[in-house]
Amino acid sequence: MLHSNLSVNENHHLTLCGADTAELAKKYGTPLYLLDETRVREKCRTYQRAMKTYFSPEARPLYASKALSFKGIYRLAKEEGMAVDVVSPGELYIALSAGMNPADIYFHGNAKTMADIRYAMDAGIGYFVADNKTELARISDYAKEKGIMQKVLLRITPGIDPHTFDAVNTGKVDSKFGSAIATGQAEEIFNYARSQAGIELCGFHCHIGSQIFDEKPFCDAADLMLTFMVGLRDKYGYTAKVLNLGGGIGVRYVESDPYIDIDDTLRLVGAHLHKICEETGYPMPQILMEPGRSLVADAGVTLYEVQNVKTITGYKSYAAIDGGMTDNPRYALYGSKYTVLLANRADEEADFTCTVAGRCCESGDLIGENMLLPKPNAGDILAVLVTGAYNYAMASNYNCIPKLPIVMIADGKDTLAVRRETYEDMIACQL
Ligand code: LLP
Repeated sequence: MLHSNLSVNENHHLTLCGADTAELAKKYGTPLYLLDETRVREKCRTYQRAMKTYFSPEARPLYASKALSFKGIYRLAKEEGMAVDVVSPGELYIALSAGMNPADIYFHGNAKTMADIRYAMDAGIGYFVADNKTELARISDYAKEKGIMQKVLLRITPGIDPHTFDAVNTGKVDSKFGSAIATGQAEEIFNYARSQAGIELCGFHCHIGSQIFDEKPFCDAADLMLTFMVGLRDKYGYTAKVLNLGGGIGVRYVESDPYIDIDDTLRLVGAHLHKICEETGYPMPQILMEPGRSLVADAGVTLYEVQNVKTITGYKSYAAIDGGMTDNPRYALYGSKYTVLLANRADEEADFTCTVAGRCCESGDLIGENMLLPKPNAGDILAVLVTGAYNYAMASNYNCIPKLPIVMIADGKDTLAVRRETYEDMIACQL
């Protein structure tokens, strides 16, 4: 199986974290998101242990909650002693509703409004990751009004192409995020931040992209960021306390994707950071990282019921399901690859090639093309693996299709964490 939390039981059913997925489909209905809570907790612990061991005892992972944002995941993050990053007041609201300590929240985004800034500062948010001068001026104004010093990290663009897909590349010089080192604008924004009253500049942030499968891009980013920081120390006598290296560690979606060992990757990045700090005499900053996908993706499985199978003679076959791009838009958006199987016939030979099609009125509503399954029948349960990240988070109500529930599984026991949206929920805002 693709990941160690997946298996097949004596009834030939797919299991996730020991729970029978075909039985869960019966109990909760389809379509349905499952999330292996045990897996997410293990990942949180791996990141924390590795970062403290290989970077420094102050190092800390922040959960990039854009990957999957609902109350239960923030509660889990809190229980695991994780900090989180949020990218909108909506995510901040959910994190606070779940009881997260605002001091453990980092607020991202390239277009924060004045209302966002006020809301976050009134809530006592730990850090802003500031993107631009206008934002800094707004933070400064409101901090002065409140009579506080607001902690800030500056988002810097190191100028790196990690060679993943374009939609998630963020570290290149012409990115919409942050200020580039290469153009001199990073130094400019640093000086600007230092000149603004009410701002406590704690350090720097960069994020180079997503689905990265080796340590090299992170080491390259660390090189560029530390060179920049050493330059500022030598020129202005400023030493940063914090360096946030962003998220981006990749996840295996299909057998042909590489396997990445998080602990080993962090060990190599840590060794590299220690080496640069020794060479330059820069004191090791508190290192932060922001894993999203790698904390939650392989904990997720989505279950659908097959509605019909259609073969267009001489062309291709479709298996149509009761969900699709509204609960998983990633194939439609990025052409992302997934592994599928039949949850109720999980050990049968997969010798039928088909396109798995969603139920929306749109030809591009697909989960994937040329997918291999045992020949499905109407009523079979189709499982799409590795759907924990950027699925629920990116779900929509297109075609007025209600959003799916999330069932969390801990040590084989299932609990409903998000209920299924009703038609009433969908019209709740409509007057
Ligand atoms: N930090 C920052 C500033 C980010 O922009 C992101 C992701 C992360 C951390 C987390 O990166 P991760 O560890 O999840 O790779 N919707 C796309 C992914 C967009 C990623 C956006 N930023 C997808 O479905 O692949």
